[in-house]
Amino acid sequence: MKKFPDNFLWGAATSAYQIEGAWNVDGRGPSHWDTFSQTPGNTKNGETGNVACDHYHRYQEDVDIMSEIGLKAYRFSVSWSRILPDGKTVNQAGLDYYSRLVDSLLEKNIVPFITLYHWELPQTLEDMGGWPNRDVAKYFVDLADVTTRALGDKVKNWITHNEPWCTALLSHQIGLHAPGKKDWYQGLSAAHTVLLSHGMAMDTLRTNVPDGEHGIAPNFEPAYPLNRTKEALDGARIWDGYYIRWFNDPLAGREYPADMVNYYTETGRLPNGLDFVQDGDYDLIAAPVDFIGINNYTRQRMDGMLDLDNFNTAATPNPGAEYTEMNWEVYPDGLYDLINRMHFDYQAPKIYITESGCSYSDGPDADGRVRDERRTKYYAAHADAVHRAIQNGANVAGMFMWSLLDNFEWSLGYSQRFGMVYVDYETQKRTIKDSGYWYQKTIAQNGLAE
Ligand code: FCB
Repeated sequence: MKKFPDNFLWGAATSAYQIEGAWNVDGRGPSHWDTFSQTPGNTKNGETGNVACDHYHRYQEDVDIMSEIGLKAYRFSVSWSRILPDGKTVNQAGLDYYSRLVDSLLEKNIVPFITLYHWELPQTLEDMGGWPNRDVAKYFVDLADVTTRALGDKVKNWITHNEPWCTALLSHQIGLHAPGKKDWYQGLSAAHTVLLSHGMAMDTLRTNVPDGEHGIAPNFEPAYPLNRTKEALDGARIWDGYYIRWFNDPLAGREYPADMVNYYTETGRLPNGLDFVQDGDYDLIAAPVDFIGINNYTRQRMDGMLDLDNFNTAATPNPGAEYTEMNWEVYPDGLYDLINRMHFDYQAPKIYITESGCSYSDGPDADGRVRDERRTKYYAAHADAVHRAIQNGANVAGMFMWSLLDNFEWSLGYSQRFGMVYVDYETQKRTIKDSGYWYQKTIAQNGLAE
């Protein structure tokens, strides 16, 4: 048996918009994801999170399922516009809902991890210009303040942001996520506000939950050059700068990476350089964290220089490798490498794998059982990568599979199933998949069979 450290937190993750539904119930205001998904053409089949898994009404059943699987921890996000419908005025009913959810978790001895921002901005703040407007950082601090005052006595683990690259670039430069903009300057200014808001909120988290642990969960898609040519090496370096270093360098106190500032400036993406950076910003962004969350699903392979404007064509396919239904290569060694990098190169004080998982559409067979063997293999291989990294000295304290439930996969609607629990969206019936039962066994023995 490959044993994990005692108290290793085996968990699962979700986010509010992807599971809650109840988008206009009990005083919740509209978020920019409501606007985006309800605008035709933005999501697959025009699907929205209006109902999703109806978790808002069914959370008790879902907590019971978590308990049956044996989860030690559960990572979820709050919907900003449920708590502050217009970004300014507190909606007590929204806070009460999260308080009830937290109580149910604690009753089952499941440790709650709350993500403050998993991509839903109140529409009123989007109307002010959204993340490219640095004033939004102050509103984010209000969210952190109000939420930790209400829940900080019960919840001790807080994550400011989920995947700043997505909030900033996927949403403002590539335009695939809300608010659907396609502009480099907006994307990089949004990144700056997000990072700034993280640092400012860290201060609030420390004040309001002094006995807690607080961090951030960036997404990581490491790039591997496939040969020793300048083009392939530069392609991998630029990808890494765009995706990983642009966020993790300033978080670690290194400011924005100089090679990328030059690259963006020379290629006309930042014609005025870093004009959005003000005195003191870097110190705020580099506020010490207690942990870094790693969200990782796949990697990129580079056999030449890449075009960042067409990044979807950048990766070179790997014949013979396993791909998930997102068309993401399964590459557990990538997670192993990343943990080492965050531990050794970035000196992360503590690491959680805040997301790891795969999309496979396996549904119930005639006997009702969901035989999702490929997901079980994915989980086992990635847990094994974590185990190897721990053996190698990295301080990984827990792992959260994405996701507990099949859910609303953003612009891809309900077409991608990431859950260890199958959701029938017609009836809202939940069925624990074989991978969920594999997880149950793994958690119970706190280890992987050799
Ligand atoms: C991550 C997101 C999460 C989900 C998974 C598949 O980028 O954080 O909400 O969409 O990908």
